[in-house]
Amino acid sequence: MKILIVIQTFILSIFIFSMANGQVINYDESKVPDYTLPELLKSNSGQQISNKKQWETIRRPEILDLYSSEMYGKTSNEHIPVTYELLSENKDFLNGKATMRQVKMSFSKNGKTLNTLLLLILPNHVKKKIPVIVGYNFKGNHSTIADSSILYSDNFKLVRKPSHNDWIRGIQSNRWDYEQIIGRGYGIATMCYHDMFPDEEGFKNQSAAALFSDYEERQSQEDNWEAIGVWAWGSSRIVDYLETIKEVDQSKIALLGHSRQGKAALWAGAQDLRFSLVISNNSGEGGAALAKRKFGETIAVVSSIKPFWFAKSLNKYHNKEEEMPFDQHMLIALIAPRPVYVASAEEDLWADPKGEYQSAYFASPVYQLYRKKGLMNESPPGIHQPIYNDIGYHIRAGIHDVNSYDWYCYLNFADKHFK
Ligand code: GCU
Repeated sequence: MKILIVIQTFILSIFIFSMANGQVINYDESKVPDYTLPELLKSNSGQQISNKKQWETIRRPEILDLYSSEMYGKTSNEHIPVTYELLSENKDFLNGKATMRQVKMSFSKNGKTLNTLLLLILPNHVKKKIPVIVGYNFKGNHSTIADSSILYSDNFKLVRKPSHNDWIRGIQSNRWDYEQIIGRGYGIATMCYHDMFPDEEGFKNQSAAALFSDYEERQSQEDNWEAIGVWAWGSSRIVDYLETIKEVDQSKIALLGHSRQGKAALWAGAQDLRFSLVISNNSGEGGAALAKRKFGETIAVVSSIKPFWFAKSLNKYHNKEEEMPFDQHMLIALIAPRPVYVASAEEDLWADPKGEYQSAYFASPVYQLYRKKGLMNESPPGIHQPIYNDIGYHIRAGIHDVNSYDWYCYLNFADKHFK
């Protein structure tokens, strides 16, 4: 029943938004236009990039600049002072299998303070340093497990009316298979994404962006960062915290994001080399999917659903994807040589599974510069046939979601690269 409602809402939203944009969403592979992807290995001045040094010193910085100026906005490097307060610790979590900590991370600058709440769960059976997966949740830490000791965060209370079902404990526990993650020897560090930037129109003043000294003056700038940029910044702040935790293996911090958070995870992974493995789950348009295919959601549509996700500069490419001097294979290439995993769902046509696969495939030449193995075939594999090269990929049956099968593949991929 619940699934039916989700599908109905999904179909309805496609209908509404395609009408709102005066465009039909294309789900027909034969109607994908001819397109040429911008060259990954040719610099702006036309120089062919043929080794990792040229990639790192010439081409990679050019592409990072492009994403800052044209898509996600410029990330501020101003230091925001932070304090960490351990609010609770339970060494007997998950029937004794894990230690759970709740940590208040308070960011203060320019007379403003933002309180965020991190939930850290570490396996008790791992005697070595622990690899940790970082990832935002959508509906609050309390939504990831039905446990009355999990706290609600300030920004969650700000954006969610008491009657909203997001208050229900464990309402998204299907997306957070802690038993499997902990059982496989991984820790998890999660935070509600509203904590860093409430995902509702008009709440920017309550986001981390508002702490920065140039907040007001940046509002009118085309390359000002918006929600995705700030979420990416915030995931790096979780790593700052993990760096203070002695049980954590600092060389094995992975980042996972689903959907809009998959977009933010790719952008965070591109910028912050401390993420040693990056996972994009069903990230779609503005994430892993190639925009120039114009299959499923488009740039114009995603920006109309949430006008405050991307920098304003992206708006000039509405219905002009062919003019974009970049496409998402370039974003994925920025993560090289670190392992990156892209995953799709068969029924999630809105996110363009083939476009998600192909951007990972077309990022492969950069992995080759490092003698790493990307994806070998231009055509995606079949359902439930995961690939665990240095670029990983799977498409599973079902809808837009993160489930235990997805985690199973991510943990296999992480085992391969971390163990
Ligand atoms: C909408 C949006 C997608 C986004 C998704 C999500 O469907 O169109 O771009 O990925 O929400 O984050 O759940």
